[in-house]
Amino acid sequence: MDNEFEISRRRLIGGAAIAATAVAGSTSATARKLASAKSAMPPRFLWGAATSGYQVEGNNINSDFWFLEHVKLPGGSSPFPDKSGDACDHYHRFAEDIKLLASLGLNSYRFSLEWSRIEPEKGEYSKAELDHYRRMAATCREHGVTPCITFNHFTTPRWFAFEGGWDAASSPELFARYCEFAVKGVGDLAGLATTLNEPNVGLMLQWSDMPAEVKAGMVAMPAMVGAHSPTGTFSIWMAGDQSKKLPNMLKAHEKGFEAIKAGPGDFPVGVSLAVTDDQAVGKGSMRDAKRAACYEPWMDLIARCSDFMGVQNYSRLRFDTEGAMKPPAGAELTSTGEEFYPEALGNAIRYAHARTKKPIYVTENGIATNDDTRRVEHMRRAIASMQSCINDGVPVHGYLHWSLLDNYEWGRYAPRFGLVAVDLATQVRTPKPSAYELGKFARANIS
Ligand code: BGC
Repeated sequence: MDNEFEISRRRLIGGAAIAATAVAGSTSATARKLASAKSAMPPRFLWGAATSGYQVEGNNINSDFWFLEHVKLPGGSSPFPDKSGDACDHYHRFAEDIKLLASLGLNSYRFSLEWSRIEPEKGEYSKAELDHYRRMAATCREHGVTPCITFNHFTTPRWFAFEGGWDAASSPELFARYCEFAVKGVGDLAGLATTLNEPNVGLMLQWSDMPAEVKAGMVAMPAMVGAHSPTGTFSIWMAGDQSKKLPNMLKAHEKGFEAIKAGPGDFPVGVSLAVTDDQAVGKGSMRDAKRAACYEPWMDLIARCSDFMGVQNYSRLRFDTEGAMKPPAGAELTSTGEEFYPEALGNAIRYAHARTKKPIYVTENGIATNDDTRRVEHMRRAIASMQSCINDGVPVHGYLHWSLLDNYEWGRYAPRFGLVAVDLATQVRTPKPSAYELGKFARANIS
């Protein structure tokens, strides 16, 4: 269990060892043809990119994850290879980054509010920090960019983690109270909002193809870290007993939804789920059991308490009678060990819509790779698969690529998901060809 923390969330979902197999390849002509079927695109389609506060801002020292980054494991080692540190210094450079996003032709930006800045101590709210996020939303508006605001992207204040996090019965109320305060600062500028980002991810990790001992380590982790917390307790979204967190997170979405809908502002509010394209292989496949555990409680709630569902997809996962299978032999893998399988996006969208009957926004889709030609190919084919859903009448209203920037991938800087490269030493931004490619889709379809 020594290394159970040395994980990237994405790597765990893919479940395979890191293997950069960036193989440059030619673009599929079919994908290009499908992707240029502009006529099918709904009006005011959101073409954009996403980030999360913790992964790009830097120095979120009041956050649960910052605490986790700095815990010393037995023997004195750190749980993670990299610390987030200054990250992309987006906290200070957001104006430059939003301007860059707009210059690419994108019309929307998904970013998250960092709860630990806005409520640094329980019940003590910071108007000044909320104003920071208001300035971000206002900067988006100045550039004709729709702000898509995530109220919680994984990280919570450390005081919340020390009180039991999402395990605590009080957590839905605490989250709703924070949403009520936060929406007052940004609601009138928001164009779209999500309450929680991938609240099902802890469950997904348990259904991934990662080794059983790593899964067990994830469950045991909060107890180990709790020993370092002032209350003796530490609970974080991705680890621990998910059956305890699920009812509280469901309730948190419901209460947060109500708080955000109370306004100010009038914009769609939803929740984003991690949705792999889960495929059943053979008789007695565990695929449906995974769906029942990881999505269905959420989808039932979304059907009655959400304006839309956010779909976040990176790959597919095949299931036999034992559970998740490894990628097929010889399959191209991304640098976080997932199968290169862009068409997973369309399948995930179809499943999400069939189950919830709600409008869909793709709030994340992307690939970890050092070879941007593979990102371009992945994007083209994923968008083609999304467009085929739209052609079949599925109401998809936006595509927000993960991520705008190369950023902190929950413990490591090595996986590169960004459309824009960031030199961590100089903070210089350099758009990659994939950034211009997404801009082309956006420019072609903005009506
Ligand atoms: C998460 C991001 C993460 C990305 C890539 C998403 O599921 O929302 O925070 O960086 O996956 O792993």
